This record gives sequence, C-alpha cells and structure tokens, in this order.
Amino acid sequence: MKKIIVFASGGGSNFQALIDALKNEKKICIKALVVDRNCGALKVAKDNQINSFMVNRHNDKFYNSAILKVICADADLIVCAGYLSIISAEIVQQFPEKIINIHPSLLPAFGGSGMYGMKVHEAVIASHVHFSGCTVHFVDCGIDSGTIIKQISVCVNEHDTPETLQKKVLVEEHKLLPEVVKELLS
Ligand code: GRF
Repeated sequence: MKKIIVFASGGGSNFQALIDALKNEKKICIKALVVDRNCGALKVAKDNQINSFMVNRHNDKFYNSAILKVICADADLIVCAGYLSIISAEIVQQFPEKIINIHPSLLPAFGGSGMYGMKVHEAVIASHVHFSGCTVHFVDCGIDSGTIIKQISVCVNEHDTPETLQKKVLVEEHKLLPEVVKELLS
C-alpha cells in the first residue's frame, strides 16, 4: 500500500479532489493531513475520517521539521495542496522527488516569493497574457523552482477577473493533482 501525506493551509478543495479520485484505489491511501493553521482542509479530513495534525508555523523551524519527519516517516509521497509554509531543506533532502506541489499558474511564469493564491491570478490579469493554468512540480529547496511534472493550461479572456480565472484554474487543478499522484505511485 502506497501512503500519501497531504499538506494544506486553505479550503482543502484539492485535498477533497484527491480523496474523491483515490476512493476506489486499493493500493494508495491518504494517511494523514498536515496543516499549518486552522483552515477548511481540517473539516475535509474530519468528514473523511483522515487523521490530521497541525504544526504551529510560528514554532522554531527545526522543531517543526522534527515533528514533520515523524509524521511523514513512511510516506511514499507528500502532496502540498495549497500549503503556504516553506518546507525546510532538511525535509526536502529527506524525501528527494517525493514531495510535490500544485501551483495555480504555468510555472515558471507567476511563481516565486509572494506568488500565492489570488496574488497569482491578479498578476496574470494585470499582465494581459492569453493563457494561464496550473502546474504540479517536485518541491526543491527554492520557491516554485522544482522540476515541472505536468501542467494544464486555460485561456484568459478579456472579461476574466482574478476571481473568474481562479475558478477556471481550480477546476483544472482538481484534475491535474490526482492524475499526477496516480502516475507517480503506479
Ligand atoms: C490552489 O489554488 C493551489 O494551487 C494553491 O492554493 C490553492 C488551494 O486551494 N497553492 P484549496 O485549499 O485546495 O481549495
């Protein structure tokens, strides 16, 4: 049985999409959710009887790394689904090519420090590009800089606002993330 740990900080819609997609998978299970704040993903875990753990993001980072190492010890894949804290280099090095992240743009465009959530979509609209999308990539020690695994693009039209774009991209995120997880673990 392949074990996944999901990290989240937000509403948990990608986490829910992953749960739904893996419902009938006999060889993959979501072992736990890790959050770094009180967030909607906790309710998703509770509703689906998945154990959850909260790390205090204001803690010393070495202390948090030690906790995460224990929680993730036998994980086959760590999935960052809207996790806003930086994963420490220690954890990244312990799980080489075993940590993935979903980002709501076509990386390397609109990634890096300060580019998260609605800020990404605001920057895309302000730059008048015709395409955006989402990316799943391996997590390395940089921000949004790891090897790209797969992307899905969406059209940005003249009537789009950051809010409409976010909705369009999120629909594709919910397909892309489970697809990549299944590919990596099969
Ligand atoms: C998603 O857009 C994801 O790409 C980004 O944060 C958002 C999380 O949404 N990193 P949710 O918590 O999965 O609903």
